[in-house]
Amino acid sequence: MKRLAKALILLIAVIIVSGFVLMDVFGKPEAPVQPVEYSHWQHVTKEDGPRLECTFCHEHADKSAHATIPNISTCMLCHESIQTESAEVQKLAAFASRGEQPAWVRVYWFEREANAYFTHKPHIRAGVSCQECHGDIGSMQRVRREVNQSMSWCIDCHAQKNVSNDCYVCHR
Ligand code: HEC
Ligand code: HEC
Ligand code: HEC
Ligand code: HEC
Ligand code: HEC
Repeated sequence: MKRLAKALILLIAVIIVSGFVLMDVFGKPEAPVQPVEYSHWQHVTKEDGPRLECTFCHEHADKSAHATIPNISTCMLCHESIQTESAEVQKLAAFASRGEQPAWVRVYWFEREANAYFTHKPHIRAGVSCQECHGDIGSMQRVRREVNQSMSWCIDCHAQKNVSNDCYVCHR
């Protein structure tokens, strides 16, 4: 009897541990590989880097619905002459000389069927930080989806801050 109980406990422990291992494999925040290895950390936080503001590149965040990914010409302001011997910068320059934009892979998006509407402007104006909704992007080499931007996430904050949660606010 004792032996059976021990075996059962062991079995349960194995199931639980493998559950956690699987969650770790499949539940990781996503960090897609990008067409050019651009590092936010290197441009925003690194001690002797250019230490740019987020809105230097995402210049519409406080003005419109979309923060927007910068045009490659913004990158080339510096990279016509900076780090030109780097293979990644040469990839960037090749895009620019062909007049193409790199096909940056989106990290944050909604399911199409949800028909959800989000706009940056009122949130930035209300003082919500980029970090609160996107995690500490400035410390990332490659952007990871750290925040689960689900409907309940939106609604929880709206309730807390007395913002309307009528359906039509977010579904138009
Ligand atoms: C209240 C939460 C919130 C705040 C604050 C916020 N974002 Fe976003 N951001 C989102 C959501 C939600 C999306 C996805 C929107 C979609 O798919 O339509 C998004 C998408 C983006 C995108 C993808 C491209 C685009 O134009 O939508 C970029 C870039 C971005 N945010 C940058 C920023 C920056 C930079 C800041 C700070 C200046 C910021 N965000 C602040 C919630 C937020
Ligand atoms: C204000 C100037 C400036 C802008 C704008 C800029 N960069 Fe940079 N970038 C730098 C500097 C400076 C470094 C080197 C930082 C360091 O010392 O590590 C760098 C490094 C890089 C590197 C790594 C080079 C290597 O091999 O180490 C890549 C890739 C890169 N940038 C891509 C981009 C992309 C893509 C954009 C546009 C979205 C961009 N940069 C915009 C200044 C800039
Ligand atoms: C030098 C230009 C530059 C600066 C400065 C910059 N970004 Fe970005 N950002 C990019 C580029 C290019 C991408 C698309 C490639 C990628 O995901 O790495 C991007 C992607 C993002 C995304 C993912 C958008 C999506 O859903 O696909 C977010 C969120 C974001 N940036 C937020 C920030 C925040 C917050 C800051 C300030 C801490 C910042 N960025 C500073 C150029 C920049
Ligand atoms: C961290 C808090 C926070 C989160 C998370 C958040 N919001 Fe908001 N939202 C606010 C605040 C605060 C305002 C009101 C700004 C103002 O007073 O103008 C607002 C306003 C809005 C508005 C404009 C409402 C109007 O009357 O014009 C829309 C649309 C909106 N949010 C959609 C969303 C969606 C969609 C999400 C999730 C993807 C979301 N919000 C997540 C805090 C948040
Ligand atoms: C503050 C913003 C906000 C409000 C208010 C809101 N929603 Fe949503 N809703 C969202 C977002 C964002 C998504 C997409 C989430 C995603 O892609 O993971 C969504 C998704 C959905 C979906 C798709 C289901 C799914 O899980 O994909 C339905 C249905 C829905 N909402 C119905 C409603 C109804 C009904 C109301 C009013 C009672 C409402 N929503 C109010 C933001 C909101």
